Amino acid sequence: MHKDAPIGVLFVCLGNICRSPIAEGVFIHEAHERGVLDRFDIDSCGTGGWHAGERADPRARATANSRGVELPSIARKLDPRKDFARFHLILPMDQQNMDDLLRLGAPAERVRLMRSFDATAEHPAEVPDPYYGGAEGFENVFDMVRRACRGLLNQLFVP
Ligand code: 4NP
Repeated sequence: MHKDAPIGVLFVCLGNICRSPIAEGVFIHEAHERGVLDRFDIDSCGTGGWHAGERADPRARATANSRGVELPSIARKLDPRKDFARFHLILPMDQQNMDDLLRLGAPAERVRLMRSFDATAEHPAEVPDPYYGGAEGFENVFDMVRRACRGLLNQLFVP
């Protein structure tokens, strides 16, 4: 374990079964590849709790697995009191998630749109909800989330 306190990173979407579990799994994978996984306290959650207790959507897991990434997430609802104390970086996937977090009292200086770390994005850019679409939506989400995870890690550590 690293001597410094871990950096808490929380990925947030609506249902916590598609976008934020992909972001969490990709961030774990990328941090592990760089040898810095032990520097982080990583989790994901949803602003809604309808899917609490569920693994990530099978389409999300299939897309991630085909790229060599496991998704360990079990869905849970945001717990504002605990989560806003625990996490240093709170990363909503879209503007609605961001608005909900701020309305619930998230410290604004800790909240950043996920794709603010995606160098290819036209800002402000969102990670679109793939739930009602096909497999290509999940591929698209995976690609943009991976760019953002790499961009975030590049900002935190010299690449
Ligand atoms: P997510 O996608 O926010 O990326 O996990 C969704 C999953 C489920 C629902 C909405 C969005 N839903 O309404 O059940």
